[in-house]
Amino acid sequence: MSFPVHRPRRLRKTELLRGLVRETRLSAASFVYPLFVCPGTNVRQEVSSMPGVFQQSADKIVEDCREVESLGIPGVILFGLPETKDPRGASSLQKDGVVQRAIEAIRKAKLNLAVITDVCLCEYTDHGHCGVIENGDVANDPTLEILAEQSLSHARAGADIVAPSDMMDGRVAAIRQKLDQNNFQDLPILSYAAKYCSGFYGPFREAADSAPQFGDRRSYQMDPANVREALKEVALDLEEGADMIMVKPALPYLDVIHRVSEEFHVPVAAYNVSGEYSMVKAAAQNGWLDEKRVVLEILTSIQRAGASIILTYHAKDAARWLK
Ligand code: PBG
Repeated sequence: MSFPVHRPRRLRKTELLRGLVRETRLSAASFVYPLFVCPGTNVRQEVSSMPGVFQQSADKIVEDCREVESLGIPGVILFGLPETKDPRGASSLQKDGVVQRAIEAIRKAKLNLAVITDVCLCEYTDHGHCGVIENGDVANDPTLEILAEQSLSHARAGADIVAPSDMMDGRVAAIRQKLDQNNFQDLPILSYAAKYCSGFYGPFREAADSAPQFGDRRSYQMDPANVREALKEVALDLEEGADMIMVKPALPYLDVIHRVSEEFHVPVAAYNVSGEYSMVKAAAQNGWLDEKRVVLEILTSIQRAGASIILTYHAKDAARWLK
């Protein structure tokens, strides 16, 4: 049976009907807003390649978090711009490091927000790689202990979730063990399990001042051509104790989000990354795209693909538009 019995347009006739049959309902309740913490007080410096995104000192971060909370967004993820960098990323472990102080400030403000921390070395090393360098390459195993210590330091400062983004093998197990040994057995790990070596991170590297000073990240981040390998990465991270997993970037990898969410029954997060954001902003500023319409369409697509958590720089705008 088909036309004229079936007329799909019947259910598209009014907004009421369209709303009734809508399969994906985007809501601020699934957003996480990324924040860049820098030293000092009263600092709020816009990132030139990411209009509307700022590097901020802890006091300003708290103000921003207040707004995030009031918009019904349940979480933030923090990235640090430390005072000093060295080959081993020592400033990422300091009790009074930028991220640690920001977490404490947010905690003190008693906001109803989940504080997630990005666990990685690239923002803290002078060479800008996500692990320590040995013999000209990023050394996997010697990096694990630093990542575990960094996670513990974030946990002690009051983080609710740690999110390792370095792509070293075995880091979830190392972090889980370290947290468990220190009475943080209830602290969840959100692992960036399928993180691709992507050109879409370009603007972030300005925002987080984390561009590699030599070479690239191809020896640890995934090849954009692979999807079966993503399933393997996710399976390994879950075996090691990850509670939630992430696919990153989002828009060019909707198929990966879909495959992962079909195959694994854990919450799937997707990172709508800096380059995805900047493309939309640039086009909108030129009048080439309707920003609101395109942002909501993109975020809906990411959710439709299977992500239940979306990390996005559009979070505050989108939450306002969805109100
Ligand atoms: C690494 C990290 C990166 C992003 C999040 N965590 C950059 C990279 O791997 O080079 C990118 C996020 C974005 O582009 O918005 N710590």
